[in-house]
Amino acid sequence: MSSVGIREISARATRRVGAHSHIRGLGVENGKVLPVGDGLVGQIEAREAAWLIVQMIKEGKMAGKGILIVGPPGTGKTAIAIGIARELGEDTPFVAISAAEIYSAEIKKTEYLMQAMRKAIGVRVREFRKVYEGMVVKIDYEWASHPYNPYYRIPVGAKLTLKTKSETRTFSVDEDIAQQLLELGISKGDVIWIDAETGRVVRVGRCKEAEVTYDIEYRRRVPLPSGPILKEKEFVYTVTLHELDMRSYQAGSLFGLIFGLETREIPSEVRRQVDERVRKWIEEGRAELLPGVLFIDDAHMLDIEAFTFLSRAMESELAPIIILATNRGITKIRGTDIEAPHGIPLDLLDRLIIIKTKPYTEDEIREIIKIRAKEEDVPLSDDALQALTEVGRSRSLRYALQLLTPAYILAKQRGKDVVTRDEIEYVKKLFVDVQESVRYLKEFEEKFLR
Ligand SMILES: Nc1ncnc2c1ncn2[C@@H]1O[C@H](COP(=O)(O)OP(=O)(O)OP(=O)(O)O)[C@@H](O)[C@H]1O
Ligand SMILES: [Mg+2]
Repeated sequence: MSSVGIREISARATRRVGAHSHIRGLGVENGKVLPVGDGLVGQIEAREAAWLIVQMIKEGKMAGKGILIVGPPGTGKTAIAIGIARELGEDTPFVAISAAEIYSAEIKKTEYLMQAMRKAIGVRVREFRKVYEGMVVKIDYEWASHPYNPYYRIPVGAKLTLKTKSETRTFSVDEDIAQQLLELGISKGDVIWIDAETGRVVRVGRCKEAEVTYDIEYRRRVPLPSGPILKEKEFVYTVTLHELDMRSYQAGSLFGLIFGLETREIPSEVRRQVDERVRKWIEEGRAELLPGVLFIDDAHMLDIEAFTFLSRAMESELAPIIILATNRGITKIRGTDIEAPHGIPLDLLDRLIIIKTKPYTEDEIREIIKIRAKEEDVPLSDDALQALTEVGRSRSLRYALQLLTPAYILAKQRGKDVVTRDEIEYVKKLFVDVQESVRYLKEFEEKFLR
């Protein structure tokens, strides 16, 4: 029996990852943190701590606990959280939200958090299905006029000949399958699957044995299948609990079917059923859980209600690893008058392992800028790199990184193929950093708004 991986594209948050696309892990080799590795620079202690946490997660020793990353702005808190997720593996879901998001949604704060948590838990499902598998030898469509428009022809069926190493058979297929074959543009030489139960058609690729018809072949070449055409195949795919929730809610509600999902709150009963089903699959050995990472940035923006929810959620067996990050010291817990470290209630703090990030040295800043410039395909001259490093040191790393692309566009307009110090100095005047924009408005207020 062959096993195939079908990866479902899930609602994994990739949004905030753009600025961190250069990060591929924590940069650890044989248990030692490399000065530069997997796109990460410096921050050695934080990365070592993160590495130990990854080992704890893998050994299942993080249940009921969470992680808190504290450090000044732009010191790589988000970067390290992403490094942790990458270390946990390809398929591990990583969901990143900013605490402020829970207030903007039309749904309840706790529902928002709940959905984020369930997006961060993957379920790898193994399923056996009966499929027809083979290389297409011949397709003959049967056509008829459209019932309303005589000039428009539609397929009402087809005769399909499939071939494997050991047999060749011809099937007549119905309108629905014929339509799918047309829509997918299936032609002679393609290897396809047709699900015996649902009639879903999947194109696997172009058969290696098929004659080459184009000079440039972009489709995946696959071998001619062996065995009988009708066979049982094992499929492995990863879905998130949230996707299962949504699907089961949609299927269970007539309202949802007809009008689409208006209400975006999922009843807890639906979730309970999904959990039960997943547990059963796991017991039967058909599924395994892939707890991912839920990263909550600016955690001091959560309020007491959200913190209470999180504390409780961490205890549940179906919980992802929760990583909070903040750049605040002692501050009020939102929704109360109580001051607490990082604005986080003590009972939750008790469950958190804390990692700290430190400001970067000049050399580290230079190295990070180099990595990002490479990632964004921005060629920098030595003096431009030096100018940006100064910006990173005196203003902020993030601001320096933001100047890369505009500086390059400007350089190209000026007919250069490398960014020089001139372009950096120029865009620095056009775009201000946060401190400067605040100072500017303050000045403005003082002058005009008295
Ligand atoms: N050690 C590092 N190695 C490589 N890139 C880094 C490192 N630290 C930060 N960066 C990059 O610098 C930028 C700013 O870092 P990041 O967003 O992680 O900071 P932060 O601590 O989360 O800041 P904030 O408190 O504002 O949320 C990002 O593009 C990030 O990928
Ligand atoms: Mg951040």
